[in-house]
Amino acid sequence: MDKLRIEGGRRLAGEVAVSGAKNAALPILAAALLTREAVRLAGVPRLRDVDTMLRLLRTLGARVEREADGAIRVEAAAVGSVEAPYELVRTMRASILVLGPLLARFGEARVSLPGGCAIGQRPVDQHIKGLQAMGAEIDIEHGYVVARAERLLGTRIVTDMVTVTGTENLMMAAALASGQTVIENAAREPEVLDLADALNAMGARVYGAGTDRIVIDGVESLHGADHVVMPDRIEAGTFLCSVAAAGGDVTLTGVRPNTLDATVDKLREAGMRIEAGADWMRARMDRRPSAVSVRTAPFPGFATDMQAQFMAVNAVAEGTAVITETIFENRFMHVLELQRLGADIDIDGHTAIVRGVTSLSGAAVMATDLRASAGLVVAALVAEGVTLVDRIYHLDRGYERMEHKLAALGAAIERIGS
Ligand code: EPU
Repeated sequence: MDKLRIEGGRRLAGEVAVSGAKNAALPILAAALLTREAVRLAGVPRLRDVDTMLRLLRTLGARVEREADGAIRVEAAAVGSVEAPYELVRTMRASILVLGPLLARFGEARVSLPGGCAIGQRPVDQHIKGLQAMGAEIDIEHGYVVARAERLLGTRIVTDMVTVTGTENLMMAAALASGQTVIENAAREPEVLDLADALNAMGARVYGAGTDRIVIDGVESLHGADHVVMPDRIEAGTFLCSVAAAGGDVTLTGVRPNTLDATVDKLREAGMRIEAGADWMRARMDRRPSAVSVRTAPFPGFATDMQAQFMAVNAVAEGTAVITETIFENRFMHVLELQRLGADIDIDGHTAIVRGVTSLSGAAVMATDLRASAGLVVAALVAEGVTLVDRIYHLDRGYERMEHKLAALGAAIERIGS
């Protein structure tokens, strides 16, 4: 299993290009199932989760190619199966995103229930409830969600909580439903908006994405389209936290600053100087960060996907921060590992109290999930001596060439096989 070897204490400087967003690419790839024509996506990052989604699309019978310029072309003309098997779904929960498109286009879908997850329970009851409201018959059979509907019918759906992939699944299903669907309490994440843009380019009629009320006028069929996936705001935020912890002067390119407001506000409070243009950001940090408390919330609040990285910044900050996780009940797995590096953190339920220390010291640590591993990398960049981060396949699920990008900024980081 690959590890990352990081020697902390190097200031970061230079320019880094942000990749396309994993959490936008995954639903848009699933949306390609809604049409028999080719959908061509630029900016799809090369990641393990994307590979899993491409494998799933191929399993269903779609033709999937990466073209010379890196764009992905999906042509779902001949879909021979409507089943997303357990072997794939258990490696990536986002596989549930094929449920809405398969059901809407083929009248039938069998998608394995994702089951447990390191960061919390993460049920899919809202996806199911919404599809049932649209007239689908849904049973759980042998661990699979089995959904059937002649044609989905537009309706008004109020989700019990804000769910990102739930909103996306229902939006995709509604695109081919008969009549109008209204999703209330919809997720406002920029990735939902990017999916709506892609669907509209395919001929869908989706209005209001980016707000908590999305209206979809169903159409008979969708057609092929070209789309460029939005930049990854979590990757960008992870680089910003790296600079906040290790110090430096870094410019991010190909980034969409207005998707990062909550992270930027908190990093400014921590003492970072940030300038931004339309598609770039420059972050400078020349001092020890100040402790800043955060509470995770759906967009535009502070992203749960940034919580571990921000905790790593607070671990070396001046003062004490309170970090409250409100989205996932078990997303503090990185705390025990950060403690191995010398961080002073107590957990009380959904809250972590982080007392900043003047220095962390390198140690062997283990990644437990995607963003937890990113948090460990951020901490390792500032820790004295060598940190070995094990199980970085978690990191590879969501970050494209992270060690290369950080090394280009001056970090002493390398991948080592074991
Ligand atoms: N929830 C339910 N029932 C549902 C759906 C959600 O109870 O049917 C609960 C969840 O258990 C959770 C909350 O609602 O407590 C929010 O979950 P949400 O459905 O929004 O999460 P998700 O759609 O499964 C996406 C991202 C996650 C990100 C969350 C929150 C994708 C592919 N995944 O997950 O990204 O943390 O939204 O913003 O978009 C990551 O990239 O590392 C990652 C985990």
